[in-house]
Amino acid sequence: MGREPQRNPKDLDPTHLSEFRERLTRCREANPDAWDASRNLVGQPQVQLTLKRLTAAIQDSPSLPFALRNQLVGVLREGTANRIQELPGEGLRQLTGLPPTKAVRALCILFGLARQEGSAEPVPAISAAQIERFVRTCPNPFDLLREADVASLLDLGAGDLSFASELVDQYLPILQERQQDLIVHCIDRLKPGSKLGGPLHPGHAKLKSLRQPTPGLRFQFWGDQDMFDLGKATNLLPHYTIATCQAPATPTFALEPSRVSPPIIEEHLRKTKGVFRTVRVEGEEALEVLHGGRTLLFPPWKFEIRGPLALLDLLSRHGKLCVLSAVDAEVFWELLSQLVADSRMRPTDVIFSPAIIAELFGPLYVSLSTLPVGESVVLSNLTDLRHDLPRVLTTPDVQERHYRFRHIEVRRGAVFEGVPCSRTARLFKDMTEEPPPWFLVLVPAEPTELQAIPPKN
Ligand SMILES: C[S@@+](CC[C@H](N)C(=O)[O-])C[C@H]1O[C@@H](n2cnc3c(N)ncnc32)[C@H](O)[C@@H]1O
Repeated sequence: MGREPQRNPKDLDPTHLSEFRERLTRCREANPDAWDASRNLVGQPQVQLTLKRLTAAIQDSPSLPFALRNQLVGVLREGTANRIQELPGEGLRQLTGLPPTKAVRALCILFGLARQEGSAEPVPAISAAQIERFVRTCPNPFDLLREADVASLLDLGAGDLSFASELVDQYLPILQERQQDLIVHCIDRLKPGSKLGGPLHPGHAKLKSLRQPTPGLRFQFWGDQDMFDLGKATNLLPHYTIATCQAPATPTFALEPSRVSPPIIEEHLRKTKGVFRTVRVEGEEALEVLHGGRTLLFPPWKFEIRGPLALLDLLSRHGKLCVLSAVDAEVFWELLSQLVADSRMRPTDVIFSPAIIAELFGPLYVSLSTLPVGESVVLSNLTDLRHDLPRVLTTPDVQERHYRFRHIEVRRGAVFEGVPCSRTARLFKDMTEEPPPWFLVLVPAEPTELQAIPPKN
């Protein structure tokens, strides 16, 4: 039998090289302002410092294959050159597909050196295939912020901003060292100053600390902002490296309105949550719920049902990688039913009870419900993934009517070592009646990959 030729680990894999060149081209094309700005980085007297910084950024990029990283550092003369003309032009061309000056400028964009205040916002150029490879090997999906060409995150329903704070504490120092910006944008529908929502409001000190001018940090928080009506949040980027929703709201995302009709939803809410009505409290509109002999007050939109399809649509539009954490059981099974290919798992007008879930999901239910806390599975190893998720949000910015996720990981548990986490995730350990929640890592397929989807009848 013929043997596979042995590859020296120092050899550059041709697939890695072609992917890298492609990423470089896309990054350059997607950031025309940064491309213009990069001209300043290769002129005198700046170029010497640029080559040093670029080398450091490449050395500090462990997601790059070892051989590629080494060769790039080699052709950059380990940051010791004073002029571009001192670099080996042919070597640079082989690695980047570009003549030397353009190669250095493109590398400056890819490794985050070529950005200017006021320039067009950076668009992550990292591909879905690269992200999938990354999340399949790295247990912390948020580490993508230190690996991707742009470090940006959108947190939807950000609550008290605990997660954003932890994230900034963890990644800002690393990115500052590489002179790369960390962009963190947070949205929550609670009205700042409202009496409703209690501990989910960000504390004054936390907000002040995140908002104070800090080198390399671009933080913004929009309160009183419905994630499904993003008109007011004008500085929002079209695409983020990561879009996340930590502890997606219940019942907002626990029932899918395209699966369960409004009267059945309403009846279910009255049965499980209690009698409710809109009232005014101290000048504010509120939802009053009579539950277990107690009167509870919530923001007036608490029982607006949007469903998991709307959340998935939103996350996949904005994030190159999507992360859902601390997903409770109700939201999880409704969400799962929309992610799988088998349409029998999303029957019309059936409210999911534990018994129905067990019966409906069958072997998939057994595999997932027995997943130990801390363990994870790649969903496509258990069942076929849905290829025609409908775009349910009616905004004109996205053309295609369907999309899909090319990779979905399902993990069990609320808090994971080394992974920044939210207030609600931390509280799960005290919720003795709640089963352990779920953590999902989803990689949307690129629009170009969607053409492969067979048309729906
Ligand atoms: C369960 S809490 C989770 C808060 C925080 N992410 C955490 O994990 O601690 C859900 C949050 O989503 C917010 N929310 C609910 N619906 C929203 C919407 N349509 N737009 C923006 N935020 C929303 C709520 O105000 C609340 O802060």
